[in-house]
Amino acid sequence: MNKAVLCLIVSLGASGLAFAKGDAAAGKVKAATCAACHGSTGISIAPNFPTLAGQGERYLVKQITDIKSGARAVPEMIPFVSDLTQQDIDDLAAFYSSQTPPAGATDPKYVALGEELYRAGNAKKGIPACAACHSPTGQGNALAGFPRLAGQHAQYTAKQLRDFREGDRVNDGDTRVMRAIAEKLSNKDVEAVANYIQGLGERP
Ligand code: HEC
Ligand code: HEC
Repeated sequence: MNKAVLCLIVSLGASGLAFAKGDAAAGKVKAATCAACHGSTGISIAPNFPTLAGQGERYLVKQITDIKSGARAVPEMIPFVSDLTQQDIDDLAAFYSSQTPPAGATDPKYVALGEELYRAGNAKKGIPACAACHSPTGQGNALAGFPRLAGQHAQYTAKQLRDFREGDRVNDGDTRVMRAIAEKLSNKDVEAVANYIQGLGERP
């Protein structure tokens, strides 16, 4: 194996280990205030509230931190996150990431376009394959902080893509990775790929 690649893998592995500092059992107790919206095991009922079960720890820590600071605007969560300490955030992330993610379903009418965008992108429009970063099965890449998408409510996913596209969600970093992709998606693309993602769990 190439030395540089090996180095990268070793350093990623080490930072992954160093990162595992949350306590899931403590997080479960602290998550009581989150359950009304996100469900007691992180599977939310309402399609506008994201499911958190099985989400990568690194991504969860980043989102809770960004929501607390206002870098990502979620006004309804502010009363619940403003007093969280770093340890609370780490524990909550450890709890949700340890929960079993849901399996959703896709309405067959969205499968053809949704699957094409997800797996191959659209070269003509300059849209990369979602699978390249979010993995072919939608598991994401926990160490890299690329979120898990499989089984997420289509309504929530579609709103995120529109928010990235319209500049209402801007916490995807200096590379603007998701804003740059979302601005190339039509409403029809958003609807299809979001519904495809909802059923990804059942189609490994
Ligand atoms: C009043 C309802 C409500 C409560 C209570 C709530 N949330 Fe949320 N949460 C939301 C909504 C709504 C969003 C998504 C907003 C959007 O569309 O961007 C969200 C988003 C999130 C996200 C981002 C998920 C992702 O996939 O990017 C995380 C993480 C999160 N909440 C964690 C928590 C935690 C931890 C608590 C408890 C300390 C909590 N929330 C309490 C409503 C709530
Ligand atoms: C080059 C890598 C990359 C590609 C390609 C990519 N994404 Fe992402 N995506 C990311 C990263 C990184 C984030 C997290 C941004 C953050 O930290 O807030 C993200 C976030 C998301 C979110 C928000 C998840 C949540 O829980 O709120 C959705 C939805 C999403 N991407 C969908 C897609 C779709 C659909 C495609 C294909 C059309 C795609 N992504 C292609 C890297 C990528």
